[in-house]
Amino acid sequence: MAEKPFSKIVILDFGSQYTQVIARRVRECQVYSQIVRYDTPAAEIAAMGASGIILSGGPSSVYSKHAPHPDPALFSLNLPVLGICYGMQLMGHHLGGKVEHSERREYGSGKLKVADRKCPLFHGLGASMEIWNSHGDKLTKLPRGFHAVGTTDNSEFAAIEQPKKHFYGLQFHPEVVHTPRGKELIQNFVFRICGASKDWTMGSFIDQSCEEIRAQVGDDHVILGLSGGVDSSVAAALLHKAIGDQLTCVFVNNGVLRAQEAEAVQRLFGDHFQIKLKYVDASTRFLKKLKGVTDPERKRKIIGNEFVRVFEDATTSLARGKKSKFKFLAQGTLYPDVIESVAIGGNPAALIKSHHNVGGLPKNMRFKLVEPLRQLFKDEVRLVGAELGLPNEIVQRQPFPGPGLAVRILGDITRERLRVLREADAIVVGEMKAAGWYYKVWQSFAVLLPVRSVGVMGDERTYENTIALRIVESQDGMTADWVRLPYELLARISTRIINEVKGVNRVCYDISSKPPATIEWE
Ligand code: XMP
Repeated sequence: MAEKPFSKIVILDFGSQYTQVIARRVRECQVYSQIVRYDTPAAEIAAMGASGIILSGGPSSVYSKHAPHPDPALFSLNLPVLGICYGMQLMGHHLGGKVEHSERREYGSGKLKVADRKCPLFHGLGASMEIWNSHGDKLTKLPRGFHAVGTTDNSEFAAIEQPKKHFYGLQFHPEVVHTPRGKELIQNFVFRICGASKDWTMGSFIDQSCEEIRAQVGDDHVILGLSGGVDSSVAAALLHKAIGDQLTCVFVNNGVLRAQEAEAVQRLFGDHFQIKLKYVDASTRFLKKLKGVTDPERKRKIIGNEFVRVFEDATTSLARGKKSKFKFLAQGTLYPDVIESVAIGGNPAALIKSHHNVGGLPKNMRFKLVEPLRQLFKDEVRLVGAELGLPNEIVQRQPFPGPGLAVRILGDITRERLRVLREADAIVVGEMKAAGWYYKVWQSFAVLLPVRSVGVMGDERTYENTIALRIVESQDGMTADWVRLPYELLARISTRIINEVKGVNRVCYDISSKPPATIEWE
């Protein structure tokens, strides 16, 4: 990756589940941050042009056999360093202090008394603050030149400083929301101590990224598989801004899209943005393959494989007869997908690998990759999208699985069952939007169950389908809880589905959390 002209804070990852949160907090200060492995050589870090370094927390103990250690030359780079939790213990350990296993693990909220109000880390923060702890070991002897700038009931060295070298350590976690003023602490480090400049804005990212894309692509042509989701949409808009007609998007109708989806994507990207868009209606081809398949994994495989074939065919036919074939394939890969996770002591963040992501792109196609979003977190992608003029409808869109409605129809996928689910789903989305709930939740959708039950409609006995409503809140899709929607809204959704969708006589609300349930039913 080309070096950025932006100010930069480098974060060494020692396996904390919060490493990405630290990176996001720094970026919220409008300063670029980059996560690197804990053992990145100091010379490499120096070459990155960082304004300062943060050592993340981590699950290890500094004395344990497999504890991750940084390159000690890091402390001679003449750069400010902030060690958080394990990062602080490492700093203490490497610079001649003493770390001990404490009898009592300190976990949860606590109070920090600021011992030195002159310390720039605590500028403007008052005499005490609420903090969040999560550590077993603690520093019991300071290295030379350090002094305590904050204490807790349990620790006389909860915050430490070596002012000459600009080394700082925090026993607690300033990056988590349970340390309410932690963001200001991080701001103080980034601006007052590192002297970074506020230049990481989405406007400057777009300008820089367009230049890079042009430099990478030259006169060649780029192809992108557009799904209508946030990431591929923003990637398309950004590439179009950078290279205009050298970009061609392919949108595949796989037969399991939501109501009006294909039309909306064509309207927005083809008509409004005037992006070269190849619409491939492959629905019959997909539905034929899916006929009679009820196993969810098989459904996923069929859709994934078929997509690759259709995409290849489309690319070949687009390139036929043209001078310039597609040399590049663009993908909406995001930063969390590229960070090399450090799996230390069973860090859950490292174990949860996006099992769903990117939906199998042609592995054997000889494309070079363009991934203009690979430095961004999801919330930054949304900001870039808004800045590029994409409507809220796309930018704030809820996640939608690649295999589409296929994972929301349990059992057989037929055109008739797709119709039932599409109509029910449109009602859920419509009512959620009308009530102002759609953008407040992680996902809200309908699921068609393989269950029929008896009902009465007028004087008639019916034997019809059941729709389950799945409406959940979540931060990242890894855990989720069902939303306590107002009864009136649930009632309206249910009444409308039963009255308006032919073939449904019962609606249920799914009140399971994840875990142990998942968000999708499949
Ligand atoms: P589960 O059902 O595993 O879903 O709790 C977690 C999140 O992932 C989404 N999901 C997918 N996203 N391709 C995607 O891009 C997929 O194949 C896929 N399957 C599930 C799901 O909607 C939820 O937000």
